[in-house]
Amino acid sequence: MSQPALPAGFRLLQLAEVASTNDVLRARALAGEPAGLVVIAEVQTAGRGRYGRSWSSPAGNLYASVLLRPDRRPAEIAQLSLVAGIALLEALAERAPAGCKPRLKWPNDLLIDGAKVAGVLLESDAGPGERGFVIIGTGVNITSAPADTPYPATCLIEQGFAPLAPADLLAGYLQRLVGWLDRWRIQGFAEIRRAWRRHGLGLGGAVRLRLEGEEVSGRFVDLSESGALLLELAGGGRREISAGEVFHIGA
Ligand code: BTN
Repeated sequence: MSQPALPAGFRLLQLAEVASTNDVLRARALAGEPAGLVVIAEVQTAGRGRYGRSWSSPAGNLYASVLLRPDRRPAEIAQLSLVAGIALLEALAERAPAGCKPRLKWPNDLLIDGAKVAGVLLESDAGPGERGFVIIGTGVNITSAPADTPYPATCLIEQGFAPLAPADLLAGYLQRLVGWLDRWRIQGFAEIRRAWRRHGLGLGGAVRLRLEGEEVSGRFVDLSESGALLLELAGGGRREISAGEVFHIGA
């Protein structure tokens, strides 16, 4: 694996094969590891996605987890998944071939041409005092995408990107992440929200949402000031959704 130049404050642990980079980092975090450790692996044997799905993890793609210890309330911590999504989108956009425009699907999936190319899995632990932590796990399909997903999936090579080493993509992503984390810490969520609305898919359009134990549908009115999805219900009324899987209708 190549040694990428990481922004100040990050330390890299490069591994060949792990069950899940999030699990390696969680064990380190629980043992007292300071913020800034980044774990990257060539292959994951038990990569995890959101909603308890597995994340296909053969060699060639990016599997990375970043450890943070932000001093924020759990409701604000959830915003970090949107922060990470924007950083990743920018890292991909600067390498994208002409005419290719990556988009964000709420809250933080990355799509190209309607197919998923990357995802973010945020795992946190409130912990006592400074022992709380957040792990931002990121998977990007660079050279291959799984065929058996419940949604269309693609990879960067299929989308016309030039060949790219996972470690180089990681370096670009972390550069962007540092900037967005600083804005989030200093200015709060407002600028993150503006960026997300610029790159987000389906604002104003019809959506179906799978929530825990129910499904709802309506119109994706806007991203709220805290990062939730504002839904105008088909039967009238509004709901602010903070977690769920979105299906864009007719997008
Ligand atoms: C999603 O469902 O969209 C999130 C996918 C997150 C996958 C990454 S790969 C690195 C890290 N380790 C894991 O086991 N999952 C995340």
